[in-house]
Amino acid sequence: MKIDGTAYRMIWRAPGSGRVSTFDQTLLPHKLETIELTSMQDAAHAILTMRVRGAPLIGATAAYGLALALAADPSDANLADAIQHLAKQRPTAINLRWALEEVRVEVAPLPPNERASAAFAAAARICDDDVETCRRIGEHGLTLIREIAAKKRPGERVNILTHCNAGWLACVDWGTATAPIYMAHDAGLPVHVWVDETRPRNQGAALTAYELGAHGVPHTIIADNAGGHLMQHAEVDMAIVGTDRVTANGDVANKIGTYLKALAAADNGIPFYVALPHSTIDWTLADGFRIPIEERSADEVLTMTGRLPGGGVATIEIAAPGSPAANPAFDVTPGRLVTGLITERGVCKASRAGLLSLYPERAAIGHNPS
Ligand code: MRU
Repeated sequence: MKIDGTAYRMIWRAPGSGRVSTFDQTLLPHKLETIELTSMQDAAHAILTMRVRGAPLIGATAAYGLALALAADPSDANLADAIQHLAKQRPTAINLRWALEEVRVEVAPLPPNERASAAFAAAARICDDDVETCRRIGEHGLTLIREIAAKKRPGERVNILTHCNAGWLACVDWGTATAPIYMAHDAGLPVHVWVDETRPRNQGAALTAYELGAHGVPHTIIADNAGGHLMQHAEVDMAIVGTDRVTANGDVANKIGTYLKALAAADNGIPFYVALPHSTIDWTLADGFRIPIEERSADEVLTMTGRLPGGGVATIEIAAPGSPAANPAFDVTPGRLVTGLITERGVCKASRAGLLSLYPERAAIGHNPS
């Protein structure tokens, strides 16, 4: 990704240092500000407060957080404590636990004095892997967009709907759902993106629109409830969303509201794709209804934050004082409503057979009944 012409990743470590940097996403789109994570507690707090967010980026941040913990204290006890503490910051995105386990298996057999540098190297590898994985997702998704463009009149725009933010802000670079869009745009295809605002935290309006705009991709923000109407009026050619966890049968957890878009897409015969890296597949869960769904603060529903005419940023109340609110942050879209899963290995059906056709080495993994 490029911001004002400079290439960035979403998370990076100054070579040889104990400082890891990222951007504070709670300030976007009003301010682009770097934050430094110098301890495991910093990393955990950034994940909890959603200064970093999006499944792959949460995983990468947790991996660096574990490395920072080991730099402070490489003992077995601290390794276990740090993993437990980081893992509990957000429950739904499996990438968090996946990344911690990737680092753990690498460092646990080592003598304590070698653990921190090995953990930093593992975190860097997780980041490099994520960039390459998202690039490949982009290539496979680009093929799907080309197929749709080929059925249109020359120059007629391809309308893609997305929900939440599954872009480079949510990953290390490229994004998952957005990688095919960036590649299509760069290849000269006339793509246009309907960006669901994604209440209550507005990741679509605040983040996806920001990054599409930074790349020059034509887009329009819509209220979350507008998607079904646009689909009925042939204004949507396909939907591509990201995911926080895909279970072994192809069910998909993603930002609250994704399920309703999948239902509307199915009713209107519109292809509904989910883009994901291998690190988002939870092979241990048999179906999506076993995925823990994060419940967030009612304040996120009862308030909105935005820029004032004078330039300051303020949070205002939008409901009658005392009204209660509920805030489930994710929902589960059954695999039967998903046209295809776009992975780094290709596109497959959202089913156990589909996933195993791309990841045959996973056939032996049993399900966790809990
Ligand atoms: O609560 P968030 O903002 O972390 O939720 C993010 C999403 O739902 C994304 O769609 C998902 O993490 C995929 S990111 C490539």
